[in-house]
Amino acid sequence: MNVKINENFDNLSENYLFSEINKRITKYKEENKAADIIKLGIGDVTLPLDKTVIDALIKASNEMGNKETFRGYPPEYGYDFMKEAVKKYYKRFNVELDLDSIFISDGAKSDLGNIVDIFGNNNIYIPNPVYPVYLDSNLMSGRNINFINGSKDNNFLPLPTSDIKKGSIIYLCSPNNPTGSCYKYDELKKWVDFALNNDSLIIYDSAYESFISSDEYPHSIYEIEGAKSCAIEICSFSKQAGFTGLRCGFTIIPLEIVCSNHQINKLWKRRQATKFNGVSYPVQRAAEAALTDNGIKECMDNIKYYMVNAKMLSELFDEKNIYYTGGKNSPYIWFKCPNDMKSWEFFDYLLKNANVVGTPGAGFGTFGEGYFRITSFNTHEKTKEAVERLRKLL
Ligand code: MLT
Repeated sequence: MNVKINENFDNLSENYLFSEINKRITKYKEENKAADIIKLGIGDVTLPLDKTVIDALIKASNEMGNKETFRGYPPEYGYDFMKEAVKKYYKRFNVELDLDSIFISDGAKSDLGNIVDIFGNNNIYIPNPVYPVYLDSNLMSGRNINFINGSKDNNFLPLPTSDIKKGSIIYLCSPNNPTGSCYKYDELKKWVDFALNNDSLIIYDSAYESFISSDEYPHSIYEIEGAKSCAIEICSFSKQAGFTGLRCGFTIIPLEIVCSNHQINKLWKRRQATKFNGVSYPVQRAAEAALTDNGIKECMDNIKYYMVNAKMLSELFDEKNIYYTGGKNSPYIWFKCPNDMKSWEFFDYLLKNANVVGTPGAGFGTFGEGYFRITSFNTHEKTKEAVERLRKLL
């Protein structure tokens, strides 16, 4: 057929990282039917939704089955009750949000992938290694991509450098996926000041903020003065409230941000109204419930559960004297592959010799080569078993 395609897709790797991993697991399982595989790969939660969340979900679903309380299309930007809940949640960090700056979404991944729609052909700066959606979505749009490199030298927390061009878009993720490293207040301030002084915009992914337990680290970029003029924040209920299967998140685009004489909040409104029909009423009620005092408490109990796993895993790396980051204010542990193995080589080695699945660091960028990520999202029992298997191999 003589229909032209978006040729930028030729610049992508054949499979999305987690699809490639699933493909390899499926193949391994076919060849090794008895293998008892423990998955510490994709950051998918294993604990069920909390009672407060489920009660709200059921109540709202019942409302949808009643003539008096039935609702049709939700507002494209989210119900006011949900935006109010997000606004109230941010007060915990002393951040005052304008209701109009909050957009409820079906998860951070969609908004991170779609936000490119509202920008032109800017220089894009992406941490290396990082969550692959930033790179892939910018490649699909044919953007000019540059990397800000993380390494053992900067503990995988790159800071601004003078070669970053003015008028750029810079992606940041803290606590970082995949490395689990977090920017402290003064470090994040360096990025905000850099963006303000260099006419640049930060897209800040805070999907893992609820794993922060130390007050050395900001939960939101808006805790840093000036950030409302230069940063978009994108967050998710996936890890915070176990919504990986339910789908809800939010994006904050402050009214203060003006690019090329356009309020970008307005552009996103226009984009969403055209391409998005909002998040379903029951899901927004469930997400609202996750942000009540009871909801937060129950969600934090689940996070504490996962952090016990993170501790089990990080203690193994301490014991073996292996360099790692994360595992303290993050569900991810990022470590150096043993014997200078390459990331995918170690993936295959671990799968074959321990039946444990992780994520190869190289899948998050070239600077992830030789590193590996494991998650704390499995059960205590499976994590304990994985630690025993890893202990024999490392
Ligand atoms: C991950 O494992 O990096 C995440 O679960 C992926 C995601 O949040 O989309």
